[in-house]
Amino acid sequence: MSGAFRVLVVDDEALYAQAIGAELGRRGIECELAFCARDALARAEAGSYQVVLLDHRLPDRDGISIIPNLLSLLPGSAVVMMTAYHTIPDAVAAIRHGAEDYVVKETHIQPIVDRVLELQRRARMRASADGWQEHRKSGLMGRSTGIRQVVDQLDKAGQSPETTVLLTGETGAGKEVAARYLHAISRPAGSEFIAVDCVALPGSLAESLLFGHEKGSFTGADQARAGALEEAGEGTVLLDEIGDMGEIQGKLLRVLESRCFQRVGSIKQIALRARIVAATNQDLKSRVDQGRFRLDLYQRLCVFPIHIPPLRERGDDVLMLAEHFRDFFAGKLGKEIAPLGEEVAERLLAYSYPGNVRELKNLIERAVIMTDSGRIELQHLPARLLGEGLPAGLSPAIPFDFRPGVDTLESLEKRMIEHAMEQAGHVKTEAARLLGISRFQLLRRLDRHGIRAGGRSREDDEEG
Ligand SMILES: Nc1ncnc2c1ncn2[C@@H]1O[C@H](COP(=O)(O)OP(=O)(O)OP(=O)(O)O)[C@@H](O)[C@H]1O
Ligand SMILES: [Mg+2]
Repeated sequence: MSGAFRVLVVDDEALYAQAIGAELGRRGIECELAFCARDALARAEAGSYQVVLLDHRLPDRDGISIIPNLLSLLPGSAVVMMTAYHTIPDAVAAIRHGAEDYVVKETHIQPIVDRVLELQRRARMRASADGWQEHRKSGLMGRSTGIRQVVDQLDKAGQSPETTVLLTGETGAGKEVAARYLHAISRPAGSEFIAVDCVALPGSLAESLLFGHEKGSFTGADQARAGALEEAGEGTVLLDEIGDMGEIQGKLLRVLESRCFQRVGSIKQIALRARIVAATNQDLKSRVDQGRFRLDLYQRLCVFPIHIPPLRERGDDVLMLAEHFRDFFAGKLGKEIAPLGEEVAERLLAYSYPGNVRELKNLIERAVIMTDSGRIELQHLPARLLGEGLPAGLSPAIPFDFRPGVDTLESLEKRMIEHAMEQAGHVKTEAARLLGISRFQLLRRLDRHGIRAGGRSREDDEEG
């Protein structure tokens, strides 16, 4: 499917066809009407349509009989049969003739309109860079009720292009994946997805990064620059770790409310065309209570909150994801690896995943690398899954007798950090949480102790 999304409505009940056309038109979908089979085929030959809504009974021919012709004239398009209750069996036959689906004709046209909107979303996904299949795979995988609800909410949010969505959930749960899914279903194909990490941004830099700046607007601004909001065009800007956003919270609120902004050092108003998505793994409400997050911005973001449940609450999704990652990394490394065995599956299911999907992904990658037998065995899983307690070489307690110069506060701190990193599956945000410090503080300490971060950092955590 390519080009504009257009629908052909084929129905001899002119009023009904017109009502559908008008409703779709209101939603920005171009429609043409045909009142008999001959007319429908002529239009299919001359034009291009992504969806054909086809009535069963046409004055000149049976609707079903023209499905193959329609499909050969409009390759890749979806034919949806419109049928009365008593002809459902025929509609099923229509599917055998290549129809995508059928909808029951009722006085209400809403179900038909909804079906078209869904097909439009799918067409957009297919057109998006990753492609529909790939996206489905590397995107939001899962069959659990929790994930289905998330996808459902994202689909709804997708229908209102200006709504700011707040994604909450533990580290590694898939907030960015969810944001990318929303982007793929609701923004124009090829538009930009820009993620901005609010943790790393001190005040003035944050402002120029988001809104852009004019030449000479501050020391060092030797060139004018567009910010993320401008650069994203009609795409999406993900404000990651929004809970850590500093002084510019007020400015952001104003932008969300007025849907326009100014570059630093300029008075020209620029219209906001992108969708803003905010993400956090902190409890924003308690940040508000601590006086570290503006209540008004919080309330504004809460218009459309979507919570991504932690992996440990998603039941068998763990295995589905594990199999997906096994397949993915086996392919990447050119290895043949058998599906997971019972024992391994049991351990995977019993574990609590503080680092969520990222942790599962990392540990499956590690197991795929480690195995030489063509199958993942218990010994390839990290100790924390096998309940073996502390990793070797770590003593949990403070030593009885201090060895001067050895058991220093520094060395103990280093060991604690290493331990926390190990336990958190090398997910820094989680390790920081375990240690009760901020991610930023952790990064500084990792650096100071010369601890190599191991695993994956968020930054180079690629899709898969
Ligand atoms: N449902 C899913 N299906 C497939 N892969 C997923 C899913 N959820 C997450 N992942 C993978 O897990 C990793 C972490 O996901 P993501 O970056 O979206 O988490 P996050 O919630 O943004 O984490 P953080 O709070 O640390 O930023 C990514 O590699 C992503 O591809
Ligand atoms: Mg993230």
